[in-house]
Amino acid sequence: MCGIVGYIGTEVATPLLLDSLKKLEYRGYDSAGIAVLAHEGLVVRKAKGRLTKLEQLLASEAIDGTVGIGHTRWATHGEPSDINSHPHTDVSGNIAIVHNGIIENHAKLRDWLEKHGVTFRSQTDSEVIAHLIDFHYNGDLLQAVRETMARIEGSYALGVLSEDAPDRIIAARKDSPLVIGYGKTGNYIASDVPALLAHTREVTYIDDYELAVLFADHVEFYTEDGDPVQKEICHIEWDVEAAEKGGYEHFMLKEMHEQPKALTDTIRPRIIRDESSGLRNVDMHEVKDFERWKAEDSRIFIVACGTAWHAGIVGKYIFEQFARIPVEVDIASEFRYRNPLCGKNDIFIIISQSGETADTLAAMRLAKRSGAEIVAITNVVGSTLSREADSVLYTWAGPEIAVASTKAFTTQLSCLYLIALKLGNIRGVISHQQLDEHLKEIERIPAAAAKIFDMEDELQRFAARHFNKTKVFFMGRLFDYAISMESALKLKEISYTHSEAFAAGELKHGPIALVDTSTLVVAFCTQRALFEKMDSNMKEVKARGATVLAITFDDVDTFDGTADETLKLPVVLDQFSPMLSIIPCQLYAYYCSILRGNDPDKPRNLAKSVTVE
Ligand code: M6R
Repeated sequence: MCGIVGYIGTEVATPLLLDSLKKLEYRGYDSAGIAVLAHEGLVVRKAKGRLTKLEQLLASEAIDGTVGIGHTRWATHGEPSDINSHPHTDVSGNIAIVHNGIIENHAKLRDWLEKHGVTFRSQTDSEVIAHLIDFHYNGDLLQAVRETMARIEGSYALGVLSEDAPDRIIAARKDSPLVIGYGKTGNYIASDVPALLAHTREVTYIDDYELAVLFADHVEFYTEDGDPVQKEICHIEWDVEAAEKGGYEHFMLKEMHEQPKALTDTIRPRIIRDESSGLRNVDMHEVKDFERWKAEDSRIFIVACGTAWHAGIVGKYIFEQFARIPVEVDIASEFRYRNPLCGKNDIFIIISQSGETADTLAAMRLAKRSGAEIVAITNVVGSTLSREADSVLYTWAGPEIAVASTKAFTTQLSCLYLIALKLGNIRGVISHQQLDEHLKEIERIPAAAAKIFDMEDELQRFAARHFNKTKVFFMGRLFDYAISMESALKLKEISYTHSEAFAAGELKHGPIALVDTSTLVVAFCTQRALFEKMDSNMKEVKARGATVLAITFDDVDTFDGTADETLKLPVVLDQFSPMLSIIPCQLYAYYCSILRGNDPDKPRNLAKSVTVE
């Protein structure tokens, strides 16, 4: 996730900016840069790679300015490179900006600016901001930023400098964090509190659609309409480590809580409106030659490892239901050795959070050699997978630091839904009207995901009652079976509890022999046509002494008399439940891990990225 910092005061800015950027390293980044208003004018220095690269670049020159902004970039639009690093400037090099977020209408704005004579230097979405501010600049920098805000869609935290207004930094935000710090020698902006703690514990959080104008000795706040606002100053009690985790005890907890935003960032830019009908559609421009997927003899292969493979299993159900196209799902380490039958008419969806998993890459290369089309779903721009695939769909979840994958999973699912719905429409399986209705439902998912966190205390108490169970089984049918697998993996890897997933109908073909009074069974019940069957399965395990937790929708009481406890999710269409139903089990696994005295962020024997076979 990008990090932004800024300083205006009486000290030389460069070392302060570098120091603050170092405190944001934990957010993940691939390049860094600063812009300082020095006596010779605006100086911009930026480089791909670690901050030490930028430090080396700056070592040989003394930049004397006391006003500056800085950035660590986590690439989204455009690969990691010197040119795509921030800060970005307008054509004349008078205005510099740093940006954290995603400008959803950047392509349209870029076209418009190009028609007005602007030549772009980078592939980023952010560069439009510098040019728009310049376009609207008429002697009042605040006004120009406000007018720019009115034209950009998406999320942003911004820091803006201009040679024409050397006594100020403008900051603004919408849907990306931004905090102002009040230091002894000047004032600061930062994406996150850790960047400020060495200088101050007195901060003000900027809210959406607000702007701040920082001077060396004071800060003013405005609404997007330009009206002044009074803001509260808060005292930060956290230590640096807690601050890096945004006040959460662990990265995993923070990342679970980030899911509503990660889902919004991944879904929203891809849902567009058809100009003629006004109906929703999916923007699939990232997938080259999408029309080719229409071919009668097309088959889809989904290949991945671990959690990403579970997303692939949900993907199979999604593609088969919405697009009526045959799908094979494979574990990458199996696929690569099974002499697979695939060829140039096949489409491979390769899913990997890191884009660096050794088995996944090997499987991708094998599929590529057979002539198949490779579409990657990954979270890391510039990763090996993203560079070698024919097309890439990014999950815009931001860096995932905890070993247990959470927000990567739900955003991978959201990408699969979008592709499948689009494909279903172009293959004539779902009408444009139905596509619109399904996309409307998908737009509701982030808010529904946020609602699930209202149950966090309840889940914590549930974990306190059951964390020492030696056997935990998850069961469900169809989508719920796939989510059972992912839930069992979460619980295994961080709480070290023996947990297994079963297709509920398979129970009596063997696994039920394991059920006794020491067993907890979590039954996912989100597929309405199969409620009766699930009710019977629950009764079967209860009769053998198991404790049963049912996870179903808010409007369902079918299982109230059967299950020992019931957890109710916001109501969505059955087929979209996986993006929600996994969240309680992520939380349950997390609290079991804590109660068992484990470190959920760094479970034993596991690495975040498995780059060896
Ligand atoms: O980076 P990838 O998505 O390719 O990683 C795949 C698996 O190693 C990963 O999902 C792993 O299973 C997680 N630790 C699960 O939480």
